Amino acid sequence: MSSAVKKSKLWWQEAAIYQIYPRSFQDSNGDGEGDLPGVISRLSYLKELGVDAIWLSPFYVSPNKDGGYDVSNPRDVDPRFGKMSDAVSLIEEAHKVGLRVIVDIVPNHFSTEHLWFKAALDSKPGSKERARFHFYDGRGKDGEIPPNNWCSIFGGPAWSRVKDSDGKPGQWYLHLFDSTQADLNWNNEEVNRDFEETLRFWLDKGVDGFRIDVAHGLVKDEILRDHRDPEGLTRALRLDVSDMPRAQRESLLSDVPFFDRDGVHEIYRKWRRIFDSYPGDRMSVAEAWVHPSSRATLYVRPDELHQIFNFDFLIAEWDAKFLANAVDKTLQEVAAVSAPPTWVLSNHDSPRLVSRMGGEELGERKARAIALLTHALPGGVYVFQGEELGLSDAPLSDEDRQDPVFFRTKGADKGRDGARAPLPWSTSQTHFGFTSGRPWLPIPADWSDKTVEAQKSFTEESNLSFLQLYQKSLRLRKFFASLDFNWLTRTNDVIGFTRGSQYAIYSNTSGQEIQVTLPEYFAAFEIMLCSAPRQQPRGLQEASLLLPPHSTTWVKRLK
Ligand code: GLC
Repeated sequence: MSSAVKKSKLWWQEAAIYQIYPRSFQDSNGDGEGDLPGVISRLSYLKELGVDAIWLSPFYVSPNKDGGYDVSNPRDVDPRFGKMSDAVSLIEEAHKVGLRVIVDIVPNHFSTEHLWFKAALDSKPGSKERARFHFYDGRGKDGEIPPNNWCSIFGGPAWSRVKDSDGKPGQWYLHLFDSTQADLNWNNEEVNRDFEETLRFWLDKGVDGFRIDVAHGLVKDEILRDHRDPEGLTRALRLDVSDMPRAQRESLLSDVPFFDRDGVHEIYRKWRRIFDSYPGDRMSVAEAWVHPSSRATLYVRPDELHQIFNFDFLIAEWDAKFLANAVDKTLQEVAAVSAPPTWVLSNHDSPRLVSRMGGEELGERKARAIALLTHALPGGVYVFQGEELGLSDAPLSDEDRQDPVFFRTKGADKGRDGARAPLPWSTSQTHFGFTSGRPWLPIPADWSDKTVEAQKSFTEESNLSFLQLYQKSLRLRKFFASLDFNWLTRTNDVIGFTRGSQYAIYSNTSGQEIQVTLPEYFAAFEIMLCSAPRQQPRGLQEASLLLPPHSTTWVKRLK
């Protein structure tokens, strides 16, 4: 069998994968935080939505200083999310309804509550316990200056100093994120072995894949060298920082001493051999911010990982030129390594899509349009929970915030909590059916028309709710699987392309209605789906198509 034939059959290549942030998805025991039994209770919702798989953000044992991305035992379930038996049931129940399960793995750091870190604190400089992390002596007369000037991506210094057993200040350890997230030393064989054990642990439990957190961060070289602009660099790396000019950001990101070092690829080659040793097309997807973006393809070479998040759309504006260029670049780049592209519009680290598109009615309209554009592209699509409901960032008061970013920047950056507010399920129940207790983050009171219940009940075909639009597009996009992509038009306002010879997709990014003429072979066509209410009737059409302002339309050739 040729590899091209085999590839088109792999489930993940064109899959829609739904990101669950378990803490905010569905609470089952009234403690105000979502949990694994809550996820199980909503599997039918996800099936109905039309996604192929779920990706669960971490539910492992964690002091929860960074929303569970500070793992203190990666091979057990944190009691706040349930028990190990709940994780096993979730995997089984999801499989029963035909949903694959992807779990997070966080290899860049361990929580400082991890046994290894505690052992390192109890051990001497130079010990094997300290060698699992990046411990260094400080500079200056008394070692009072950190080993280098790097800043934490969450703000403040990237180093914290520990105390020796006699109570005197001792060595420093590196933490690219919060001070409770100690970076692991991947030059250490024990670290490598431990993560291989974790991968096998979850593969044995039946997971279909891994989302690899900070996949580009594992290897660091030049640790003892200062950076020219450490504060600028860490701001450039943060998604929720929007006031940095693009050119400055690009320049800073072109060389990051702790990210995207060549050595990471050796690790993923080893991991790939582990994935391939299991039956059932297990997959992996890298969270790796790399610059230039062409370097992303290195992570998805045939003997490395399967997918890498393409974040171009996560920071995209609703602008035809920008979007068309991003699509072109992405498709060309991944084609060079025969990997499928991926598309991400939002996640738990970034502003919600509607807010990013400007909020209010216009933001919603643009968000619907960019979603339909995205769902029509070749490759995999990632949907962050609540994106399908058209949620905006929840307005929060500073007292409610929990993100370490907020605390480490002393409130200068508000952090990511706005995108993490719990999901509104039911209009009639308290806390919109998320919890019978007090939600860990407040749910905006004006979300009653955003609940799943409310959005299921829209009846007008020409005016689908956000949820209904996603349900339709996630189902209909399956027709596009494996079909060729070809441009029809790219202007300042309109993007048009075909999937196969039967489907055409047009986006109008302007505020005016625009008429386009379809290619001759589309002499008769039918409108499949449109992101905005339409004047033109559905059903048989001829030659020209009216594109409503800020919209995406899918059409199907009839003859
Ligand atoms: C990733 C996660 C983010 C977390 C960070 C540190 O970027 O997506 O939520 O804070 O890694 O683990």
